[in-house]
Amino acid sequence: MTQAGRVTLRGINKRFGSFTALKNVDLDIKPEEFFALLGPSGSGKTTTLRMIAGLETPDEGVIEIAGKDVTFAPPGDRDIAMVFQNYALYPHMTVRENIAFPLKMEKVPAKEIEPRVVDAAKKVDIDHLLHRRPGQLSGGQQQRCALARAIVRQPKLFLLDEPLSNLDAQLRLQTRVELKKLQRSLNVTAIYVTHDQEEAMTLADRMAVFFNGEIMQIGTPDEVFNRPDSIAVAAFIGSPPMNLLPAQLDGSQLKVEGRTIELDRKPTATPMAVTMGIRPSHIRIDADGIPARLYLSENMGESVLLNLYIGEHLVKVRANENVSLDDGDIVPITFDVNAIHLFDAQTGIRIEN
Ligand SMILES: Nc1ncnc2c1ncn2[C@@H]1O[C@H](COP(=O)(O)OP(=O)(O)OP(=O)(O)O)[C@@H](O)[C@H]1O
Ligand SMILES: [Mg+2]
Repeated sequence: MTQAGRVTLRGINKRFGSFTALKNVDLDIKPEEFFALLGPSGSGKTTTLRMIAGLETPDEGVIEIAGKDVTFAPPGDRDIAMVFQNYALYPHMTVRENIAFPLKMEKVPAKEIEPRVVDAAKKVDIDHLLHRRPGQLSGGQQQRCALARAIVRQPKLFLLDEPLSNLDAQLRLQTRVELKKLQRSLNVTAIYVTHDQEEAMTLADRMAVFFNGEIMQIGTPDEVFNRPDSIAVAAFIGSPPMNLLPAQLDGSQLKVEGRTIELDRKPTATPMAVTMGIRPSHIRIDADGIPARLYLSENMGESVLLNLYIGEHLVKVRANENVSLDDGDIVPITFDVNAIHLFDAQTGIRIEN
């Protein structure tokens, strides 16, 4: 297989003064993959991306692009294009000049530049705006101008740092689809930084979930959603995320909120404290269930999100839109046994069946 567009990070550590921003980061991003770096604010996503771009150097570790060690190579030697949250367009240049800029820097012959600029502009649907300046464009058009400037050089690797976050909600959803189509049609690798788990879930072939400068899990959206490795990931993925409740695992029995649930699993040798995870859509209202008190129900249009308290624990339940309940009502609930996740209460690590 061709190595173009492959990115490998091995044992990356990065400190800013006494603060450790990245701890032992390992990544292997495949050619033509759409790979998301997901995590909360300050978790090290941008630092990782800047390191791949050559805007930052690691204290330890190796970075390879297309099979070549680029750990200390300058950005210009890496055949990458980067798109930032703020677009970083040149305000005094027209759209045409902005898109042409990277080609001019590469000393591409003048007569080749115009057709390539038009071609790039067409791919993102702004070829009718080439004469305008960035200040005369909407946010979405500026964003596409930044994309056109990135694709005009035809690099094999795109680095994108929250490129949609300045767009309003509707335009963000629309542009998300276009971005994915564009990446596929160009046959390029995209590394995409976001703190929005829905964006990562919908766009990425695979993702790495960062917390506090460490990667907690790498996997497909499906793997990360359905088999989170840790409480941290479980609590971050999903909207709303998984409910987490303290429980006791004894043999193959799970004791939670005064009830005993028989699990289909091999028994544990000794009883242990666990955290039980269950998604809001895997809880049923059932007359024989655990009594919970309705705190508030939120209308989500196609469903209703019930905020219930079992004792002092808040549990979110996605219910049918036509359930009619009042705040303070007692709502008995049961958990779908096959959808229960278990985590070691001490370490936060997933317990397999
Ligand atoms: N140049 C710097 N000097 C000192 N600390 C820095 C520097 N750059 C980043 N950091 C720190 O490193 C940590 C990771 O920053 P980074 O920008 O990678 O986070 P992020 O995951 O991209 O967050 P966000 O979602 O808010 O953009 C943060 O705590 C940040 O304050
Ligand atoms: Mg960032």
